[in-house]
Amino acid sequence: MDNFTFYSPTYFLFGKETEKQTGEYVKKYGGHKVLIHYGGGSVKRSGLLDRVKASLDEAGVEYVELGGVAPNPKSGLIYEGIELARKENVDFLLPIGGGSVIDSAKAIALGVPYDGDFWDFYTGKVVEEALPVGTIVTLAASGSEGSTDSVVTHEDGMHKRCADGDILRPKFSIMNPELTCSLPPYQTASGVTDIIAHCMERYFSHTQGVELTDRLLEAVMLTLIKEGKRAMADPSNYDARANIMWGATVAHNNITGVGRAQDWGTHHMENELSTTYGCSHGEGLAVLFPSWMRYALKEQGPERFVMFATRVWGCEMNFEDPEATALEGIEKYEQFIKSIGMRTSISELGGKEEDIPKLVESMFFEAPNHGSFVQLTKEKAAEIYKMAL
Ligand code: NZQ
Ligand code: ZN
Repeated sequence: MDNFTFYSPTYFLFGKETEKQTGEYVKKYGGHKVLIHYGGGSVKRSGLLDRVKASLDEAGVEYVELGGVAPNPKSGLIYEGIELARKENVDFLLPIGGGSVIDSAKAIALGVPYDGDFWDFYTGKVVEEALPVGTIVTLAASGSEGSTDSVVTHEDGMHKRCADGDILRPKFSIMNPELTCSLPPYQTASGVTDIIAHCMERYFSHTQGVELTDRLLEAVMLTLIKEGKRAMADPSNYDARANIMWGATVAHNNITGVGRAQDWGTHHMENELSTTYGCSHGEGLAVLFPSWMRYALKEQGPERFVMFATRVWGCEMNFEDPEATALEGIEKYEQFIKSIGMRTSISELGGKEEDIPKLVESMFFEAPNHGSFVQLTKEKAAEIYKMAL
């Protein structure tokens, strides 16, 4: 196991009606005037926005609001949010939504105290200062409610990039699984796929002696397979929603990833698919992971993939032919994500072979390093995209 540091100070309020405590927790973490940030309208339709405002009113916390965050959030609204927050003397960010809304809020939180362009933090500048963020989660997927990351797209060039720093972990996150019962099946399935992918990015590692995190990752993946099927069949099943929701946080606050090299090459390749074809982030991962695994199996050998096949997918070990076992595990993974409704090829997203050079160029634009288990070059990335066609 490698040396590591782990600092995860987010206060989680998990369960039914927890959103009623929003005002109290904003105050507890020093907020006097918040920017409520949300997406295209689901929080209005569900009545959640009104409930949150009532809680802020009750606590005597002032607010301004900025809605309209689109999935795979863009820089335009972030610049608008930074300006609004400065003008209104906002001292706390309150995103209500999924990963896109939370990440857009984190970007605004970075931009407000910074003299330069917020985008600097997405192109290598070290993250040191940000306004505090508290989240109310309505979609279990990204894990942004407990993570150090914010992933956004700059409209100038349409590059999707990540800023990363402990200061971006939210002060608190309110997680009521009931809020996720209204998700359309596509978003539930995309979320389940993303959560499993966050485990896979950590699981495929060359680091030895990491039994505990291997087992934690397997536990999260097994839970998501089971509860993902239950939530797809019965969308209002509270316990299924609750296990998925906490699974999203555990998968990506990095308690499952400490002390080991992590890959993330597939996530980097995915950024290009959601940006180019407008699919969900989770579905982009569904398209790429089977091909990435088949490529990695050939390049790196079957050891890790045999573990994945036998421990996560229940495959029988074929001692004569470990590669056959590894391939069976990959097939079972692919069948599962198809069974919950994910498309698994670039052509199903509307992409063509001639798009590949552009995808690769954009991925490597001012970003030369991708992947660890498989260190991606432009040629390797092109081959994996081709396999995923
Ligand atoms: O905009 P509204 O109307 O709210 O609708 C949203 C949106 O259309 C809808 N939705 C959310 N909650 C709902 C709901 N509809 C009905 N009922 C509810 N309760 O769902 C749609 C998708 O929302 P979005 O926030 O885009 O989904 P998700 O949470 O999957 O976030 C995806 C983004 O997170 C980034 C991805 O790259 C992508 O941009 N990620 C962020 C990470 C992080 N910060 O740590 C890590 C991840 O790997 C991921 O990259
Ligand atoms: Zn992800």
